[in-house]
Amino acid sequence: MKDILRRITYLREEIGRHNDLYYDKNNPEVSDTEYDLLVKELEHLENENPLFVLKNSPTKKVSGFASSTFSQVKHQVPMLSLDNTYSKEEIVKWYDRVVKKLTHKKIKFVVEPKIDGLSASLTYLNGILAVGSTRGDGQTGEDITENIKTVKGIPSKLKIENFPALFEVRGEVYINKTDFENLNKLILDHGEQKFANPRNAASGSLRQKNPYVTSLRNLRFFAHSFGKVDGKSFNNQFEFLRFCKECGFCLQDGLKEANSLDEIFQYIDAMLNKRDLFNYEIDGLVIKVDSFLDQKELGSTNKSPRWAIAFKFPAKQATTKLNKIRVQVGRTGIITPSAILEPVILAGVTISHATLHNFEEIKRLNVNEGDIVLIERAGDVIPKIVKVVNKNSEGFFESPKKCPSCDSDIVKENEEEVAYRCINPDCPAQFRRHLIHFVSRDAMDIEGFGASLIDQLLKEGKIHAISDIYRLTYEDFINLKLFKEKKANNIIKSIISSKHRRLSNLVFALGIRHVGQKTSEIIAERFNSMDSIFNASLEDFKKVPEIGEVLAVSLNNFFKNPSVYQVISTLKAVGVNMVELDKEKVGSVFNNKIFVLTGELKNYTRENASEIIKSLGGKITSSISKKTDYVLLGEDAGSKLQKAKELNIKVIDEVKFEKLIREQNVNM
Ligand code: IVH
Repeated sequence: MKDILRRITYLREEIGRHNDLYYDKNNPEVSDTEYDLLVKELEHLENENPLFVLKNSPTKKVSGFASSTFSQVKHQVPMLSLDNTYSKEEIVKWYDRVVKKLTHKKIKFVVEPKIDGLSASLTYLNGILAVGSTRGDGQTGEDITENIKTVKGIPSKLKIENFPALFEVRGEVYINKTDFENLNKLILDHGEQKFANPRNAASGSLRQKNPYVTSLRNLRFFAHSFGKVDGKSFNNQFEFLRFCKECGFCLQDGLKEANSLDEIFQYIDAMLNKRDLFNYEIDGLVIKVDSFLDQKELGSTNKSPRWAIAFKFPAKQATTKLNKIRVQVGRTGIITPSAILEPVILAGVTISHATLHNFEEIKRLNVNEGDIVLIERAGDVIPKIVKVVNKNSEGFFESPKKCPSCDSDIVKENEEEVAYRCINPDCPAQFRRHLIHFVSRDAMDIEGFGASLIDQLLKEGKIHAISDIYRLTYEDFINLKLFKEKKANNIIKSIISSKHRRLSNLVFALGIRHVGQKTSEIIAERFNSMDSIFNASLEDFKKVPEIGEVLAVSLNNFFKNPSVYQVISTLKAVGVNMVELDKEKVGSVFNNKIFVLTGELKNYTRENASEIIKSLGGKITSSISKKTDYVLLGEDAGSKLQKAKELNIKVIDEVKFEKLIREQNVNM
């Protein structure tokens, strides 16, 4: 019993502390989910031990308060909070309660996105905006009228003729994701602490003493409910929302009518996938009973209405421990730190790494190994550290003075640059990264040639230069861990077929700074062969409309480097394609010709061979007909060979096939 009381007291104090950080300081230490968990635990303990329930427990009242920075406004109708849940079972339970109470009729629901901002109440007297206030503790809010007047989507005068004598409209003040990013950049430039999320930014911006500052923050408003209204009545939420629109308020996107639990869930699932497409943060959906008569019948507790519930989406933020700061060397020598975290579940995914961008970022965050940090994952982006919430470590993280891989000097390219770079062209870490890039799908696409295979080959001393990839033999692979005959054969096939990749893929594979896939295609198309690329001058590069100064210089420096010439010559010597295989220009051998593959090929997988034929303008079909031009014959061919002979169709083997491909290159 004593332990339970101690835990209840702790939870009450802790929730109070987090409320203060969230509502007053706009600087929370924990994510919404972690906060909700504390409240849920307290609710559970209080339900089990009613004797320990205090009247002012955070579970029994609306969180937040009206600070003394502003004068206070008493709400004529209390501003309540919403019950919230992360579980669909709880939604079912809520629905059952609603249906049980309203036995008599078919119930209609409205589902609205729950915008992550802060609620505000706007009082219009005879159609003119008179008072704007925050929710505060639900009974009394802060008078922020002047600040409210600067928010987009709030008319100073209702845009209708017959306005109600009194109209108290409530809604959410929020900031767009893009405006939030821009605001944080500006704040950083001033050397101040960033806002952890858009909600804090909206709250911090709206509750400014100087309304001019608020006016610079691009705040916006959506109407979602109302307080006291005289001279107008509504039958249901949809009618109210339509009226708001007529008055000149903005309504949010994604409002939905639902007539059953199934429809509610269908919408929840659809919105879970769409949440990142909105330019404002949505932290869940609010499900409301549409009819105001029904709402009245269901009533409210002191804290929240029984006619609505919020389904919260999985959190994007969580707190965890930063176990280690790992320093890695990238393909172009850039040294980047990243964070290894104590694994934590975020939006349904276990997270154990976060990006740290660069060493300036570490300094700015004042983060070190051992600290407890708030992390965030937005969309599919790699999680990032928002801030330190508990400083366990002492001292600063020491940025490396030398390359962690080869111990060479590291430099900043210029003063504006934040990244350090290892200047050793033979740096093993860079070479490893380079190999990983070279074989990757959009580059030379050598299937099965992943990072762990590269590590094994490097360890065995089988690769010293990029071109060594093309000198690897079956024996080299069969002796490696986890390699059996089939796997070794397949990888050899992948290597061989990668020799026929397009010139643009090779250019991309070379890993030239600032040169991505699109630029590689432009270069290949413009210069047509590796020889012409090598012969191009800086001016030639600059003449290409899509290539700017920086890129032209980067290309020129790269191709004038003797060691690059060496790499390309050896790749050429081992048979890597060096010309652009332009479908339009390819001779008649492949163009629009229909191929059928049969039997097992020795040097190609079926996918490889098909890809090559297609890239040369040919087509693949699965069965032989009179229209077939070529049958590419592998071993153990079956009935197809017979049929090809009957129809007098040209049959070619792999040797002939390769010859045809080579001829294409020469013909260019
Ligand atoms: S209806 C009685 N609708 O969520 C409460 N609230 O956690 C009536 N919120 O204080 C509010 N989007 O500030 C409603 N579509 C929406 C909302 C919404 C965000 C906020 C609101 C409320 C908080 C409760």
